[in-house]
Amino acid sequence: MSFLEPFASPEHLDPELQLFLEKASLRLCKWLANAGHSSPLPSISVMPEIAPPLKGLSADALLDEIQLVMDGSYQPSHPGSLAHLDPPPLTASIAADLICAGLNNNLLAEELSPSLSRLERLLCNWFAERIGMPPQSGGVAASGGSLSNLMALVVARYQSGLQNDPKAVLLASSEAHVSLSKAVRVMGLDAEALQTIETNNEGQISIELLESQLKRVRAEGGKCFAIVGTAGTTVRGAVDPLVELGAFCLRESLWFHIDGAIGGIFAISEKTSHLVKGISLANSVTLNPQKLLGITKTSSLLLVANRSDLISTFATGLPYIEPAWGTETHGGEMGIQGTRPAEVLKLWLGLRQLGETGINNLLEQSIERRVCLENKLDPSKFQLISGPLHLISCTPVGIDKEQSAKWSAETRLELLENQIMLSRPLHQGIYYLKAVLGNPHTKTPHLVKLAKILNCSLGV
Ligand SMILES: Cc1ncc(COP(=O)(O)O)c(C=O)c1O
Repeated sequence: MSFLEPFASPEHLDPELQLFLEKASLRLCKWLANAGHSSPLPSISVMPEIAPPLKGLSADALLDEIQLVMDGSYQPSHPGSLAHLDPPPLTASIAADLICAGLNNNLLAEELSPSLSRLERLLCNWFAERIGMPPQSGGVAASGGSLSNLMALVVARYQSGLQNDPKAVLLASSEAHVSLSKAVRVMGLDAEALQTIETNNEGQISIELLESQLKRVRAEGGKCFAIVGTAGTTVRGAVDPLVELGAFCLRESLWFHIDGAIGGIFAISEKTSHLVKGISLANSVTLNPQKLLGITKTSSLLLVANRSDLISTFATGLPYIEPAWGTETHGGEMGIQGTRPAEVLKLWLGLRQLGETGINNLLEQSIERRVCLENKLDPSKFQLISGPLHLISCTPVGIDKEQSAKWSAETRLELLENQIMLSRPLHQGIYYLKAVLGNPHTKTPHLVKLAKILNCSLGV
């Protein structure tokens, strides 16, 4: 039985380590290759022992144990995995994640991640420039969109000088993501600090209602520290009128944050950027390459129109670390996180693997799949809600909450029996079934099967 040293030799290539990583890779490749023959959800889940044994396990025993966890995992590479914003992992991204773990660099400080700190800065600059932000823009990577949104709101409040005002509010649409509620709690504000504005039939914030709500806040002596527009809402992928919102925020001298966790990525392709027109007007943008491009989790960016806003909000001087080189600022001074992995590596390599053509294809084909499914559902039978992106939700026309709960639960189960997984969001008091069509393995026959089951559930 092979004995695996706990740490790689700094002197020579360790054949046991090499074999271990090769065997681990093989297991992963087999797991991925088996995706289409199983189901999005595992049928069994057996947990290995949790506590460490007295004497450490051999390499093979470690792999057998990890296999149990793999066998009980959700399978994003199954063509029927359409429930959430969790696509199959991009292959270059998998390799970069492994390398990232092996490098074990730390984005906290330049001397702990010399090349990776630069890579992060340059890639954030590239993203900001690509989506049309001004030359002084930049950004920082974060572990997920919720954290990017939180950081954006912290920056917005700090830059507006309202960090000590317990009555400061932010305004967003009623379909904005729940991470805004969480952010408000973390920021020590009352829940009422998040004031939501009704949406129109397309799921977009109403500018008139926003305007009158802001007037009301100000008339009552309140102050607003940010307006949040959503580029891709969670249930239907609606995009708020970003150009109008941008003009409104400029007029009112308000920080404009765009939660583009779902839709922001469409801005990086010439072919799809019109879908999120106005994104360049934001003071800050959350963008989640983990959601559609398949960059392995987590991969989220907070981009800001003025990079120095991040620094003036978060920098502490990091007194226990050497200064950053040149005029640069440590990664740990640009956001809430201190120590963090070089998530940028898998994003950068993933983009290099895809190329412009691959990126365009992923973005455009996801929308084509949504249109294809939408066209197969009878709008006189289904209440279909969607936006211009790759999400669509449906529920039978004219049913109440209880009926929608029953229909959606039963239909979801039937779909799962047919290896198709949708999610079941509660939206404006009614349960829907939601399909996210970002999975590149989902082909027309899968969509035909999905539409057939949905239509049959209504006797169509
Ligand atoms: C619109 C929107 N914003 C933010 C988030 C939060 O992203 P994360 O899950 O990466 O924290 C989500 C998650 O689905 C989302 O849909």
